[in-house]
Amino acid sequence: PKKGQTDRMADQYAHTREDNRPTDAPAIPAIRWEEPPEGPVLVLLDQTRLPAEEVELVCTDASALVEAIRSLAVRGAPLLGIAGAYGVALAAARGFDVDEAATALAGARPTAVNLSVGVQRALSAHRAALAKGGTTGQAAEAALAAARQLHREDAEASTRMAEHGLALLDELLPGGGHRILTHCNTGALVSGGEGTAFAVALAAHRAGRLRRLWVDETRPLLQGARLTAYEAARHGMAYTLLTDNAAGSLFAAGEVDAVLVGADRIAADGSVANKVGSYPLAVLARYHHVPFIVVAPVTTVDPDTPDGAAIEIEQRPGHEVTEFVVPQAPVVGAGAGTPVAPLGTQAYNPAFDVTPPELITAIVTEEGAVSPVTAEALAEQRARSSQA
Ligand code: MRU
Repeated sequence: PKKGQTDRMADQYAHTREDNRPTDAPAIPAIRWEEPPEGPVLVLLDQTRLPAEEVELVCTDASALVEAIRSLAVRGAPLLGIAGAYGVALAAARGFDVDEAATALAGARPTAVNLSVGVQRALSAHRAALAKGGTTGQAAEAALAAARQLHREDAEASTRMAEHGLALLDELLPGGGHRILTHCNTGALVSGGEGTAFAVALAAHRAGRLRRLWVDETRPLLQGARLTAYEAARHGMAYTLLTDNAAGSLFAAGEVDAVLVGADRIAADGSVANKVGSYPLAVLARYHHVPFIVVAPVTTVDPDTPDGAAIEIEQRPGHEVTEFVVPQAPVVGAGAGTPVAPLGTQAYNPAFDVTPPELITAIVTEEGAVSPVTAEALAEQRARSSQA
């Protein structure tokens, strides 16, 4: 009788997809390098405008990219890494001070380690070319090649994560018909490929084993409502949007089989910084005996950050909380929304929170699943990946 009840509940909340034209086709790529006659540019899909408009943002220098990163026009850990690498290549190709650009890019947002990793990859390639006696042109080419390589590697990692993640889901939930809850946005909009956690849900959908994707709206900037729902609709997935606060009652109703989230930084001890609201989901998942799975590329694991307390959490401006986000307008900046709190109200607005390893069932990377999550198991996987 329990199963019948939950079936009906899922149907009752089924999203109507008629208008969403499932295509399974990629949207405009989240990022691409172009070389028009006026000089190289980095073209971004402006994520602050989705889902209302698919508008591109053209960056001709690193400072425009820094602004795009801060405003979340480009966002999500793996994509930030790719963007950072291309940003260094752009500065080099346009004849700007590469070190200065690299410092500004790496410091644009503090939590996702991928950003500084990506910047460093391109910067090291640039420096190595110069050290070998190359011209500035050759050094710029080397930085661009490093960025392209990282972009390709991320796409490959995404494919592997989807395979490993689906295998783990099938193992943990042998009955199939997975009902997955996800938070924030972790799909093609954050990746050179199809993403991290979302790529696993997509693989389940393609295999006919996704019964429902529960999409947390993700306050305050609505990455779930604006971006994950947009991606899920494009792929024709069975998805339902919920307010973050509704997750508890969904667990209590027995409607969630697994939680899948991404990560911005994974400390050496397995603590995971991810979009604020992930930690409460992990607590709920533990209480309700539901697996809480983190999906992230190896580049998100930061051996230099010992534990969760050492992860710097970005604090965002209070107006993102004291005003409503208006999807048709840029989500960040003056006039973006209608006030919902008295003038002068202070807001607590951390962009991320930290989930301790003991609440995480598994961390899935392109190298496979680590479970249980321990410092030793993560270090072992890192060693294997650097040997490969
Ligand atoms: O502030 P954002 O939108 O950049 O936050 C993104 C997230 O928290 C994602 O979950 C994380 O980067 C993982 S994406 C694979």
